[in-house]
Amino acid sequence: MWSALHSESASPAPQPLRHIPVLAREIFEHLPETCELIFDGTFGHGGHMEYFLSRMSSTPRVLACDVDKKIMDKGLHFTAPWKDFITPILDSYANIDLRAEKYGLFDFVLLDLGVNLEHFKDGERGFSIKVDAPLDMRFRNDGSVSAKDIIATYPKEKLEKILTIYGDFSPKTAEYITKALIETRKKQPIETTFQLFDLLSRLHFNQKKIAVVFQVLRIETNQELLQLEIFLKKLGKVVSCGGRCSIITYHSIEDRMVKTAFKSLADDWGFRLVNKKVIMPQYSEIQRNKAARSAKLRIIERI
Ligand SMILES: C[S@@+](CC[C@H](N)C(=O)[O-])C[C@H]1O[C@@H](n2cnc3c(N)ncnc32)[C@H](O)[C@@H]1O
Repeated sequence: MWSALHSESASPAPQPLRHIPVLAREIFEHLPETCELIFDGTFGHGGHMEYFLSRMSSTPRVLACDVDKKIMDKGLHFTAPWKDFITPILDSYANIDLRAEKYGLFDFVLLDLGVNLEHFKDGERGFSIKVDAPLDMRFRNDGSVSAKDIIATYPKEKLEKILTIYGDFSPKTAEYITKALIETRKKQPIETTFQLFDLLSRLHFNQKKIAVVFQVLRIETNQELLQLEIFLKKLGKVVSCGGRCSIITYHSIEDRMVKTAFKSLADDWGFRLVNKKVIMPQYSEIQRNKAARSAKLRIIERI
């Protein structure tokens, strides 16, 4: 009996799946001097906040915002030692102006765009090409349009447009994919990840290209670029003097949007670019965390 108990307690407890924060050291090194109120617009598993809070000499108040309840709950669990300082907000970061009205101007704003590792690993919601699941892809289950609905209902022109713009496919390739989707959906609905994967495999796309099609559907399902556009328009009004905003992007269109918005804030709104050249992860970080490989960090300060 004793040995059974002993051996049970000796075996390591399974570690809960956790997203690894990207460029955390670089962001931490560029935090503003005064940092009493933080808006973390993409709180996720709270990895960035844990990194910062465990290193800061005085603890700021953090508004922890995420659209995905399941992921945010896990993030709150991981950051429980600071729970008295963290206010969870289940909403899009695009509503940052409403939070500033209520809590005041932010000393630090963070956006770490894209998906959480859990979105891919749990597979249930159809983000991963490797797990058979319904093609849902919504960050929040609020009755909005899912990836399956997009494939089922979008007209030819709209499908081609998202494939060329978000996926960087040539017009010819976008037309080729769209034609196959439309011909297939006439015969039977495309409802699962593996159905879509098989269809694209039959068009001789490799896994990398298939993953890009999945990414296009995810971006469109969650209107990710629209959310970022709305947020960037509001940014000039929600940062305190001396306050900063750091944004990590993983997609060239998002990086271009941030670069352009930051330039206009610096030109016309009394901001300055903290890093003129985009900051990217070091090789050692990419080796530790493959998800960091396409990350780009831009930082701006209100003067
Ligand atoms: C890359 S993860 C953030 C990881 C986090 N920084 C960490 O270290 O754990 C991106 C998160 O943004 C969330 N998200 C995506 N779109 C959002 C939006 N419009 N508003 C708020 N959160 C969003 C996703 O649910 C996901 O949890």
